[in-house]
Amino acid sequence: MSKTPSSASGHHDTSTDATPAQGGCPFGHQSAERPASDPKAEQSASADTTQWHDAQLDFSKSMSYGDYLSLDPILNAQHPRSTDHNEMLFIIQHQTSELWMKLALYELQAARSAVHNDELPPAFKMLARVSRILEQLVQAWSVLATMTPSEYSSMRPSLGSSSGFQSYQYRILEFMLGNKNAAMLKPHSHRPDLFQQVEAALNAPSFYDEVVRLLARRGFAIAPERLERDWTQPTPHDKTVEAAWLEVYRNPSQHWELYEMAEELVDLEDAFRQWRFRHVTTVERIIGFKQGTGGTNGAPYLRKMLDVVLFPELWHVRTLL
Ligand code: HEM
Repeated sequence: MSKTPSSASGHHDTSTDATPAQGGCPFGHQSAERPASDPKAEQSASADTTQWHDAQLDFSKSMSYGDYLSLDPILNAQHPRSTDHNEMLFIIQHQTSELWMKLALYELQAARSAVHNDELPPAFKMLARVSRILEQLVQAWSVLATMTPSEYSSMRPSLGSSSGFQSYQYRILEFMLGNKNAAMLKPHSHRPDLFQQVEAALNAPSFYDEVVRLLARRGFAIAPERLERDWTQPTPHDKTVEAAWLEVYRNPSQHWELYEMAEELVDLEDAFRQWRFRHVTTVERIIGFKQGTGGTNGAPYLRKMLDVVLFPELWHVRTLL
């Protein structure tokens, strides 16, 4: 950690605080092991007469849990626009999804670099984490499903034209996973900073494109036009890639790392499909077949998205085995 966050409440400057660097839990759970000579600890103890299991109780001079996690801005970022009780659920469900998407993108970007550098074990670890994040997001739909159509209808006017369709992180995630579509840049044109990020993801090779290059580096005869192509286009089905995966699945022990990569990717797409399915089901139970706030025809649009295939050859090869 190069820099500690400053206290949003402004009661002290934590920028020189080194508590987590002492090897304990960043939240002070090892305060019992703090050396007695620690001046901060002595000061705390003398300033605070209340004791509780040796826990540190005074944070006037050291970084607290809330400081470290920047909880003030996060927990003050919920601004319901209606007086409807259920709007808070709607906001928090979206915000937490965006936070998990942030981590998924962070892991996927690092995993793509690892594949590029032929460092597969760390890439597997990161891909597994992305799949678990998606599973977590799949489970999260159950919380939103407690919202009834009547409850949604009373807060619907507050949403205006905002929709998850405009989520720039989601669009970057789709692009990184190869579901490219330049039309999806448009909702971000009013924000050049975000537009630039989404456009960069559109123009870059997807994670799967990097894996196809890996197949070529491992000696498989991949068509040259598959290795250098227009990256802004969706993932094509390529016979030479399919032939490579067929060989991998027929001889797993000879190609163990590629075999593991294939299964990690199928895991990831499996979880992504479940997320899409739970989304459309939750949408249907809450708004039926009404138009979406983003302007599409709603559930039919989302149902169409269920047909997207991210890693085509990995699904098709199963028929050939
Ligand atoms: C009551 C809850 C929800 C309803 C009624 C709803 C409805 C819709 C609808 C109708 C669309 C299609 C675009 C449009 O016309 O608006 C859509 C897209 C989308 N929603 Fe939701 N949604 C809900 C909750 C969520 C949540 C919690 C997330 C999490 C971030 C989310 C993320 C998205 C994303 C990423 C898209 C774009 C999908 C794509 O283009 O393939 N939605 N939503």
